[in-house]
Amino acid sequence: MKETIERIRREAEEALQKAVSPEALEEIRVRFLGRKQGVIGELFQSIGKLADEERKQAGLKLNELRTWLENAIAERSKARQKVSGPLPDPTLPGIVPAAGRKHPLRLMADELIQIFGTLGFEVVQGPEVETTWYNFDALNVPADHPARESFDTFFLEDGNIIRSQTSTVQIRVMEKRKPPIRILAPGRVFRPDAIDARHHHTFHQIEGLAVDTDVTFADLKGVLTLFAELVYGKKLKTRFRPSFFPFTEPSAEMDVECPFCGGPNTCSVCKGSGWIELLGCGMVNPKVFEAVHIDPEVYSGFAFGLGLERIAMAKYDINDIRLFLESDLRFTRQF
Ligand code: DAH
Repeated sequence: MKETIERIRREAEEALQKAVSPEALEEIRVRFLGRKQGVIGELFQSIGKLADEERKQAGLKLNELRTWLENAIAERSKARQKVSGPLPDPTLPGIVPAAGRKHPLRLMADELIQIFGTLGFEVVQGPEVETTWYNFDALNVPADHPARESFDTFFLEDGNIIRSQTSTVQIRVMEKRKPPIRILAPGRVFRPDAIDARHHHTFHQIEGLAVDTDVTFADLKGVLTLFAELVYGKKLKTRFRPSFFPFTEPSAEMDVECPFCGGPNTCSVCKGSGWIELLGCGMVNPKVFEAVHIDPEVYSGFAFGLGLERIAMAKYDINDIRLFLESDLRFTRQF
């Protein structure tokens, strides 16, 4: 009898654990405590046949079991009443947490940072609000240069500006450190440009600078050609066209052979020219070294600056720069 009572207690416990609805609790009550065919009631009847002492013991145990179960059921249904509405259905699929994703510009920047990282370039950052010294003077941009006009640069009331190029960071780094220097400066820049599919007043650049003894134009070409190969995942022809930047001498624009090219009338990326303009570059102008007290007789260096949006547009075949700044998730979710 003792074992039977123990077994029934275990069964009741198990049933209680599984019961998630008031109906299930009621079922347990009927099954164990029901007047007519409840398990416990039947046991009470069966002990009538036992000898006196045994019957007394079994009666006590059964009473205990009954009281315990009545209380347990009462407690469970009280607990249930505190929860309003139906109990959660544990068989429903869970709620997938909303995971964010990286913006295409962030993806592109991460990739370029990673590539230049393997080439030994360290990421540094400079402020977006700058003095004209960092944005112009130290970079050998003369006082009468058109980029210094208010229609070409955003001036603040105190005479400072929001930077129009990340080249500012070259100066900030060279003021503080002595060569060898190999840095990469990603960041936001601002120009009062009219907005269209290829221009925006707010965009991003990545600036690079390498300074050491004996840095030559061959180093510039080698590093940037390897960079193009790593960005597009294949060996591509590069082209360096002579250009002009006040802070480099000589200066060049670097183009890369169009990796998507299907010819003059079919290629949406290079518009059929066969080349993609990648960046501006050159050998650091000795005047820049003088401004930061680095001896141009001892050191030389190369610098480059690229537009992040432009590279991302050419890589992902995006045809409108404005898409980067719009919060349309249909766009950002494609990357
Ligand atoms: N700062 C230039 C621009 O905004 C880009 C650039 C060109 C940066 C040549 C450089 C460079 O460091 O060497 O158009």
